[in-house]
Amino acid sequence: MHTIMLANPKGGSGKSTLAIHLASWFAQRDGIVCLGDLDRQQSSAQWLKRRPDALPRIRHWPSEDGMPGSAPRECNVGILDTPAGLHGKPLRQLLREADRVVVPVAPSRFDLAASRDFFDELAETKAVRKDKVSVAIVGMRVDPRTSATQQMIEFLAQFDLPLVTCIRSAQRYVQAVETGETLFDLKAAAVQSDLKQWQALLEWLVKRR
Ligand SMILES: Nc1ncnc2c1ncn2[C@@H]1O[C@H](COP(=O)(O)OP(=O)(O)OP(=O)(O)O)[C@@H](O)[C@H]1O
Ligand SMILES: [Mg+2]
Repeated sequence: MHTIMLANPKGGSGKSTLAIHLASWFAQRDGIVCLGDLDRQQSSAQWLKRRPDALPRIRHWPSEDGMPGSAPRECNVGILDTPAGLHGKPLRQLLREADRVVVPVAPSRFDLAASRDFFDELAETKAVRKDKVSVAIVGMRVDPRTSATQQMIEFLAQFDLPLVTCIRSAQRYVQAVETGETLFDLKAAAVQSDLKQWQALLEWLVKRR
C-alpha cells in the first residue's frame, strides 16, 4: 500500500484539509483508499462520517492510541492524518508506516518557527536519511503577493525539502468540509483555478521514486 502521511506539529497548519483532499482525489482516480485519523480531535474521521454515499468511497482506517491499526485489506492507498505536536518516538514509528510525508506550512512567522525543529527532526530520522520516505512541503493559505510568502520561501530554502505547491486561502475549503466533500468532489468548472494549485503535489505523489 502507498501510504501518505500529513504532518506538522503546528496546530491548524492544514493537515486535515490536505488529508481529506488527497483521500478524495485518489478515490476519484479509482484508488481503493483508506483514511486514518490519529488525532484525538478526529476532524477527518468526522468528515468521513459526513461524506455522502454517492461520492467515491473512502474507507476508514482504524487506529488506537494514536497509532494506525491494520488497514482494510483491499486498499492500495492509505492516508494518515496526524495530530499537532507530533514528534519524538511516535513520529519515528509513524515514519516507518509511510512512504511519503506532506508537511503543510502557512506563511506566518509563528508557523515557520514551529516548523524549524520539525524539519530538523525529520532530516535526522533514519527512514528519511535512507530515502525510504520522501518529504514535501505545501504552502497553505498562501497569497503570493505578500511579503510573508516571500519570507516563507526564503525560510524553506534553508532545508533540503521541496516546496511542491502553494494553496490559496478560500472559503470553499471550509464549506466543502461541512458536507463531507472536498474541492475534488465539486464541479471542476467551478473550482478550476483552485484545482490547478494541487496539480504539482498530485504529480509528486504519484511519481515513481
Ligand atoms: N486553503 C484554505 N483556505 C481556507 N481555509 C483553510 C484552508 N486550509 C485550511 N483551512 C482551514 O483552516 C483551519 C485549520 O485547517 P486544518 O484543520 O486542516 O489544520 P490541521 O493542521 O489539521 O489542524 P490541527 O492541528 O488542529 O489538526 C480549518 O478550519 C480549515 O478549514
Ligand atoms: Mg487536523
